[in-house]
Amino acid sequence: MFERLEPVIPDPILRLMAAYRADPEPRKVDLGIGVYRDDRGDTPILPSVRQAERIMLARQETKSYVGSAGNLGYNAAMDRLVLAADHPALVAKRVRTIQTPGGCGALRLGAELIRLVRPDSIVHVSTPTWANHGPLICGSGLKLEHYPYFDAASGGVQFGAMLAAFERLPAGAVVLLHASCHNPTGADLSAGQWRELLAVVQRRGLLPFIDMAYQGLGEGLEADAFGVRLFCAELPEVLCAVSCSKNFGLYRERVGSLHLLSTTAAAGDAAFSQLVRLARGIWSMPPDHGAAIVHDILEDPRLRAQWLEEVSAMRRRIQGLRHEVVQQLKVHCPQRDFSFIERQRGMFSFFGISVEQVQALRTQHHVYMTDDSRMNIAGLRPDNLEYFARAVAQVL
Ligand SMILES: Cc1ncc(COP(=O)(O)O)c(C=O)c1O
Repeated sequence: MFERLEPVIPDPILRLMAAYRADPEPRKVDLGIGVYRDDRGDTPILPSVRQAERIMLARQETKSYVGSAGNLGYNAAMDRLVLAADHPALVAKRVRTIQTPGGCGALRLGAELIRLVRPDSIVHVSTPTWANHGPLICGSGLKLEHYPYFDAASGGVQFGAMLAAFERLPAGAVVLLHASCHNPTGADLSAGQWRELLAVVQRRGLLPFIDMAYQGLGEGLEADAFGVRLFCAELPEVLCAVSCSKNFGLYRERVGSLHLLSTTAAAGDAAFSQLVRLARGIWSMPPDHGAAIVHDILEDPRLRAQWLEEVSAMRRRIQGLRHEVVQQLKVHCPQRDFSFIERQRGMFSFFGISVEQVQALRTQHHVYMTDDSRMNIAGLRPDNLEYFARAVAQVL
């Protein structure tokens, strides 16, 4: 059976990680893998998570199954985090939410639901988009097409071209949008652009599938959810895949949720029963541990306040680094404008240099970013900013 299988070439990001690890140079800089890092280069467990975990372990009396829908308290708490408790869609009971193994699980489950209803659906994604969107969406049997998004010249969004592409889509087409902190570019839609996009999505009858993996790490918990909240207030149907990997630092615990906005409460119930059935056929039950921690943090006023402070600290650190690195680049590479980095949001920026320059940074200066020049801003530190800017100056 398996003798004919060809080996898969390892994901370039995994090769990059291995090369970084093997590099003995003490000044090496890791801007590759997409996890948050602190000033010491660590990806720490948040103190609120540690506390909630301790309380939960002391309280837990069984390891029995949680059920295919997951932890219902967690699902409701995530609805309130994503949409806010008084959101009209929640008041009208039009949102159904299922716990998933990470944002990836939510993206895959959402794709499976779309395929169930309309197997020939095409999911339209931004150019570029997160590398795993393709495997997750296409793995369910759906097709992928691209709409224009990133404007390399300005480091922002080619919004006119994006709107024009949406205007040409057939009714019912699925459009995958990043809620905030666009991965890999860092270029986000403004509130005004979300409103303009809404008008086109309404007029064309498109189905938005929103991926929110960085709530709180861009401008704030509310601002980062602006598009999701607007679309869920104004549209008949929306799918939203949420990840708690970054904002709770729970990566390996696999915590996420899929939120489905339906036209009516009855339609929501039917769709939810299908989601539960689909989940049963893929992972059966989601892992409990991380979701139980998130639930406890969101429901305990003291832990919640502490977590809010921790998310703000991560966000402030990223924003501070964006500012500082632009200052350093101004000094060392005055011939080139890198000010777009400060206008972008979240952990990533497309640096906009060639593959050859990326490779020169890696081999000559021990600075690691992916070949497309996506860099994880959180991998910078106050003590390596100048080293980084000098290295860039030498490869430009
Ligand atoms: C854009 C985007 N969506 C979704 C995810 C989902 O991550 P996870 O499955 O680890 O929660 C990520 C993680 O890197 C991401 O960058």
